Amino acid sequence: MPTSQPYHRVHAIGGADLDAAADLLGRGMADNPVHIAAYRGDETSRALRHGLLMRTLLRRSPSLQIEGVDRGEGLAGIAAWAPPGTCQPTPDARLHLLGRALTFGPGTAARLLTWTRAWARHDPGAPHVHLGPVSVDRHLRGRGIGGFLLLRHVGRLDVAGVDGYLETDRPEAVGFYERFGYAVVDKTDVLGTRCWFMRRRAE
Ligand SMILES: CC(C)(COP(=O)(O)OP(=O)(O)OC[C@H]1O[C@@H](n2cnc3c(N)ncnc32)[C@H](O)[C@@H]1OP(=O)(O)O)[C@@H](O)C(=O)NCCC(=O)NCCS
Repeated sequence: MPTSQPYHRVHAIGGADLDAAADLLGRGMADNPVHIAAYRGDETSRALRHGLLMRTLLRRSPSLQIEGVDRGEGLAGIAAWAPPGTCQPTPDARLHLLGRALTFGPGTAARLLTWTRAWARHDPGAPHVHLGPVSVDRHLRGRGIGGFLLLRHVGRLDVAGVDGYLETDRPEAVGFYERFGYAVVDKTDVLGTRCWFMRRRAE
């Protein structure tokens, strides 16, 4: 397992920081395969739309925990996770997410629904901490920021003795998460792109 990087400043994200975190997720995920399939369009418009959807998700998910890494030049990466029993959006969040998705047009909204329903169908029935979204700003990837966030996350799982779970649509990310004890438990094609479901068993 990689070692921690003590030079990163890490902090909980809430309130006024939420929009910056959402915008980072928009930029960070804009070239992920299922995001391309759902939003279509060019990368700039995908980043903008996904950022807007993430603003709604982060603001309307009171149980979501969010941690950010700052290397002195603003937010560099974030990890968000839902504690056991809270990973599905509340009725209020669903309503606002649907409203936001519809502003992108009915075709995009329908694809976003197909995607999120396909992922939700795979959620484990057993208690778990649901990790995601996780993203590091593109120009800062490969420098240990994602690993630092993951190391902290799995440390919390170990202390709590609870299973971890996540989904990803990036083949490179599968190996990344395996380094932290997650294993692929299922895979499926969503909107014509491969997605992996990964679980980390409590010790
Ligand atoms: C996956 C991600 C969070 C990793 O963060 P990171 O800061 O780049 O990770 P680290 O520097 O700690 O570790 C690098 C490892 O991440 C993996 N990785 C996955 N996607 C990567 C990417 N786009 N660029 C660089 N490394 C990536 C590689 O296995 C790499 O291993 P290597 O150093 O042996 O090549 C980050 O690359 C990212 O935000 N990707 C786009 C969004 C995404 O896919 N999020 C996760 C899916 S839910």
